[in-house]
Amino acid sequence: MRTVHSLKELRSILRSYRQQGKTIGLVPTMGNLHEGHISLVRKASEAADIVVTSIFVNPMQFGANEDLDTYPRTLNEDQDKLAAAGNTLVFAPSAEEIYPEGMARQTKVIVPEVSEGHCGASRPGHFEGVATVVTMLFNMVQPDVAVFGEKDFQQLAVIRKMVRDLMIPVQVVGAPTVREEDGLAKSSRNGYLSETERAIAPVVFQTLQNTAEQVQQGRSDFDALEQEARDALASAGLRPDYFNIVSSRTLKPATENDREITLLAAAFLGTTRLIDNLTISR
Ligand code: PAJ
Repeated sequence: MRTVHSLKELRSILRSYRQQGKTIGLVPTMGNLHEGHISLVRKASEAADIVVTSIFVNPMQFGANEDLDTYPRTLNEDQDKLAAAGNTLVFAPSAEEIYPEGMARQTKVIVPEVSEGHCGASRPGHFEGVATVVTMLFNMVQPDVAVFGEKDFQQLAVIRKMVRDLMIPVQVVGAPTVREEDGLAKSSRNGYLSETERAIAPVVFQTLQNTAEQVQQGRSDFDALEQEARDALASAGLRPDYFNIVSSRTLKPATENDREITLLAAAFLGTTRLIDNLTISR
């Protein structure tokens, strides 16, 4: 498995794979890889001959008071895990390689509607940063297939719409959320949690499951259910950011008639922000 840092090298290697008639799969990440990321790499290797994993902590998608500087950077360990999972090529560019003129001068991609609300409301500019860097990665790698996790449900919806609207010739594949044994969704940010916080963290998924059960049992007073879920998070010691019951397709508030409903949750534990979601069909 090779690691390249420059776009020039990336393009020259991919050109030769393409000349050999190989299909290319892309897994965009910010590194500090865990089983969730690795499951995407496995999925990509089932769908394409060559798998490129990008590792880039994208400064454009971080807010001013967020964790850009402390975000874990573990390239050596990441490379070992990727090699074991059958990855072909790692693309680990610097910020200068991606934004040579600086972020302020960079052309940006804005995806309306699905990127508004939820994480988009709490993290202004976040999805603009995600959509911009993912468009650039698509143009740099020109993959046939790209795999994203359902863990970041709104991000996946933003990317699907962007690909449709901009007619980007890539197949976007979603992959299920990989969890710890106690239900906590695997996340690079879990490493920020103290022992006490780590013991509380599974309450996010438990609250999603409890709420889903009530919806399955026929409750459709979604505003009240959302409030009960926020109260449950708060009484466990979390600080709820949002708990929203939405139509899976539009990410707008769910109505009684929706068959596919997604529960979206975000909450702070100390300074760590955790997100998770659960989709139900009825
Ligand atoms: P990052 O948080 O590193 O996640 C990279 C990919 O792994 C995303 O598609 C994410 O949804 C997926 N993922 C994370 N945790 C997962 C889990 N527990 N189970 C399954 N998949 C999981 O998301 C980003 O990076 C960035 O926004 C990026 C798309 C790379 C753009 O910068």
